[in-house]
Amino acid sequence: MVDSPFDRYLAGDRSALDAGQKRGAILFYSSAKCSVCHSGTLMSDQKYHNLSVPQLGPGKSSIEGLDLGRFEWSRRDTDKYKFRTPSLRNVTQTGPWMHNGVFSNLAEVILHHLEPKRALEHNKVGTQLYQVELRSTVVKDREVNRGMLETVSLPKYDLDEDEIGLVLRFLDSLTSDDLQTRLSTVIPSSVPSGLLEDGFLGNQ
Ligand code: HEC
Repeated sequence: MVDSPFDRYLAGDRSALDAGQKRGAILFYSSAKCSVCHSGTLMSDQKYHNLSVPQLGPGKSSIEGLDLGRFEWSRRDTDKYKFRTPSLRNVTQTGPWMHNGVFSNLAEVILHHLEPKRALEHNKVGTQLYQVELRSTVVKDREVNRGMLETVSLPKYDLDEDEIGLVLRFLDSLTSDDLQTRLSTVIPSSVPSGLLEDGFLGNQ
């Protein structure tokens, strides 16, 4: 699991990352502030943050269609809409992204971190959903979205398009070369929900 190009670079192989990936890594660990939350070997602080990710699906709360995240367990108001920072290992292969799979494009995920309000209120949110049947469940209620944004946990960002591209290049370097081979031995061919039959990694 820790044999990606980035791990090889850290172990001393200076050629494991190309120039763009190195610049992306520097951004990730400095001005892009990603490592504030995506820290350590797993690239997760294992803490809960509110990224104001668009809500969709049946939800888990008493209010239909909403998932209040950590709050569902802790019942502390300050935990509303907080979800645990995911690991970024092999992230290029783990889409669709975010806890509910709302984004099916990694660039969109980064753009959401930079401008959650814009991404949340964008009228195209959810139109590229991997699970098309969930499209009609995307929550567009202004009150709900405003409530989420009031306690958003993200820092202020000032990344231009080129820098976003470099960060994405760095994310590429977190994928193990033999991931597909190793996963193909452990992914079950079917699960009760039938979701895996839908072309996930090893079954493609
Ligand atoms: C304040 C903490 C925080 C910061 C700073 C942060 N992230 Fe995140 N990131 C999260 C959390 C929490 C999630 C999951 C949110 C959810 O699912 O609701 C996430 C999700 C992601 C995902 C999707 C992973 C997946 O498997 O779904 C990617 C990719 C990502 N972040 C990359 C970045 C990058 C690149 C940066 C820097 C530009 C960054 N993050 C900055 C907390 C943070």
